[in-house]
Amino acid sequence: MRLAESFRSERFGAVRIHELQRVIELDSGMSAAAGSRIVGADALHAVESQMVIVVPCMNETRGVIEGVLSGIPHDCLIVLVSNSDRAPVDRYEIEAQTVEQYCRLAGRPAITVHQRDPGVAGAFKAAGLPELIDDSGLVRSGKGEAMLIGMALAAMSGRRYIGYVDADNYVPGSVHEYCKVYAAGLHLADSPYAMVRISWHSKPKLRDNRLFFSRKGRSSQITNEWLNRFLAEYSGFGTEVIATGNAGEHAMSLDLGLKLRLAGGFAVEPYEYMDLFEQFGGILESTSADVMANSVPVMQIETRNPHFHDNKGEEHVQGMRMQALNVLYHSPVTLPAIRQQILEFMIEQGALGPGQEPPRERIYPPVGTLDLDLLYDALDAEALSFRQPDGLAAAGMPASPPVDRARIPRRIM
Ligand code: GDP
Ligand code: CO
Repeated sequence: MRLAESFRSERFGAVRIHELQRVIELDSGMSAAAGSRIVGADALHAVESQMVIVVPCMNETRGVIEGVLSGIPHDCLIVLVSNSDRAPVDRYEIEAQTVEQYCRLAGRPAITVHQRDPGVAGAFKAAGLPELIDDSGLVRSGKGEAMLIGMALAAMSGRRYIGYVDADNYVPGSVHEYCKVYAAGLHLADSPYAMVRISWHSKPKLRDNRLFFSRKGRSSQITNEWLNRFLAEYSGFGTEVIATGNAGEHAMSLDLGLKLRLAGGFAVEPYEYMDLFEQFGGILESTSADVMANSVPVMQIETRNPHFHDNKGEEHVQGMRMQALNVLYHSPVTLPAIRQQILEFMIEQGALGPGQEPPRERIYPPVGTLDLDLLYDALDAEALSFRQPDGLAAAGMPASPPVDRARIPRRIM
């Protein structure tokens, strides 16, 4: 893969945000050229075989899920975290079967689990995260919560990287590109604490019976603008460096991921930026001297495939925008002038009445604080939805695991 060189970055404490880099060639070969960086097949493969791809999924169609799975490079470990309906039709059962069948055909392993399985709630409670459980005794619904479950499973696998890919993506080729970009970005990032966030090139929409490739997402524009204002208020210089505030497609090293506090619902992606600023921005005291000494590169990469996914409507988009502003408003590192402007903006948008404060989003402690051994034992014993189809075993193949499988320290897979 060939990426445009990143010439500029902005620093906020230890966080180094690289300006958006384009994918120049999906397959670069090995010939170097000025102004670009190549990441060869071996380097990509080395990262992929250490990467877990988490697919959060809620009531997506079987055919679309199958397409998404087919785009994930073979050596990545797939983890599907579902919050799909279990009645009147058990959609999770269909998903789990889809994954199992796929694993058999592709000769690869996967893990699937249902977010609202009582056994999953019990396991997270036992492992030290009772905040995740709602009044009905189950793990809360929400995309952030699904990502957190995925992060914990990824940590148990013993692999080094985690990437997220939505289950509602109609284009398997774009899923493939995202995973390759994760691998390329993580390879190029010169730190054990790295994050790669994707900005897709365009999103196709139907307008007057014609396909129109719109450049920016409705929610991202606003989230990015406010994150950039946040930075500018500190530096005194206007900036457009952040282009990936709402990036659902993103990856990071688990060394970083396990230190991050994830937010619930759709606040999760913008809050990743805020938590980086809170923990490693040098404004508040950091608990991790090692991260501060290393720096946290955030690579932002513009992909080539159109991002063609399920359209969930205007209300959903408005909800996402406001969740991003809620976390910005309440962050202890947001300066008072920006908080005031956010308040005025939200009132103007009709999201708040005069005199009201934005609601607080839920923020969970880092997955690294959990007892993962306990979590695994409890999931294995109690969570009926917890499945680990191993394509090789299911296909009757002898146990000759690829190198990286043999090295996995814990019992997953
Ligand atoms: P958008 O693409 O940002 O507009 O958001 P989507 O509604 O498409 O959600 C992104 C992905 O997360 C999709 O694959 C959804 O199926 C999935 N998703 C959304 N909410 C939840 C949830 O509560 N739990 C799980 N497990 N997945 C979710
Ligand atoms: Co979507």
